[in-house]
Amino acid sequence: MNFPTPDHERLAAGLLGLSLGELRARNQVGSLRLPEAYAKAAHQLEKGVPLQYVLGRAPFRYLELKIGPGAFIPRPETEVVAGAAINALRAFPAVDRLAVDLGTGAGPIAAALASEVPGAKVIAVERAWAAAGQARENLEPLGVTVVGVDAVQVATAAGPLSDLAGRVAVVAANPPYLLDDAELGPSVAEYEPPAALFGGGPDGLETPLVFLAAAARLLKPGGVVVLEHDPSQGEALRRAATEHGLFDDAHTGHDLTGRDRYLRAERTDRGQP
Ligand SMILES: C[S@@+](CC[C@H](N)C(=O)[O-])C[C@H]1O[C@@H](n2cnc3c(N)ncnc32)[C@H](O)[C@@H]1O
Repeated sequence: MNFPTPDHERLAAGLLGLSLGELRARNQVGSLRLPEAYAKAAHQLEKGVPLQYVLGRAPFRYLELKIGPGAFIPRPETEVVAGAAINALRAFPAVDRLAVDLGTGAGPIAAALASEVPGAKVIAVERAWAAAGQARENLEPLGVTVVGVDAVQVATAAGPLSDLAGRVAVVAANPPYLLDDAELGPSVAEYEPPAALFGGGPDGLETPLVFLAAAARLLKPGGVVVLEHDPSQGEALRRAATEHGLFDDAHTGHDLTGRDRYLRAERTDRGQP
């Protein structure tokens, strides 16, 4: 059987609960039978609905998350960012492993922290109602608390999570950071929530800077922020982190294609956010 696109092949594998290798092996020996649901699901795919929404799930590191319209689809580059946050959290003694994931979406970073760092206590923050609902489904079984608030409020002194101010070891986030003129594939533009994509302002940094301010409020001295960004934003975020003395040791990490992809910086004991 010939599949018209790689996504059709992945769809068939996903519906049958097979790996691509297993699907291909069955196909080669002629024992592959497509399930009844395939034709309708393939039609959705052909209309442009992202594969992950059609299947209702998306892989992320060692996990498979439930996903549907209203929540951003986890991307491979965020697996690297989550890896940096995991390493940062593991460097703290087990009793101090308190982490916050800002703008959790369907919850991939929080889920990875909770499942890969022994003793981690993780709180996930999400403003969008539809995404927060999906995050709860994915995260509550892992013991993660999902808080439905805006990071703008978290960044203010008396805001939600003020009981965590100055206590958190790691703040990790993949904020919306695209520039307004970013070119999007049709399935992204049509199906993923714009509020999860665009950072705002001339350089896409409006929301990333809010997340950085919220991180400065939450982190204890020596605590680490790991913030995903567009390849064009590395220098501006390093500068923003260090210019008011809030963070030290700011550097830029790369994704698997070698592009600038995330800020990692340590909270100093100087400066009030
Ligand atoms: C790029 S998506 C990332 C989602 C998830 N962390 C991931 O990597 O798949 C950004 C997320 O931040 C949320 N968000 C945007 N602005 C926010 C704000 N001010 N406060 C809280 N969440 C926000 C969006 O709703 C969206 O779910």
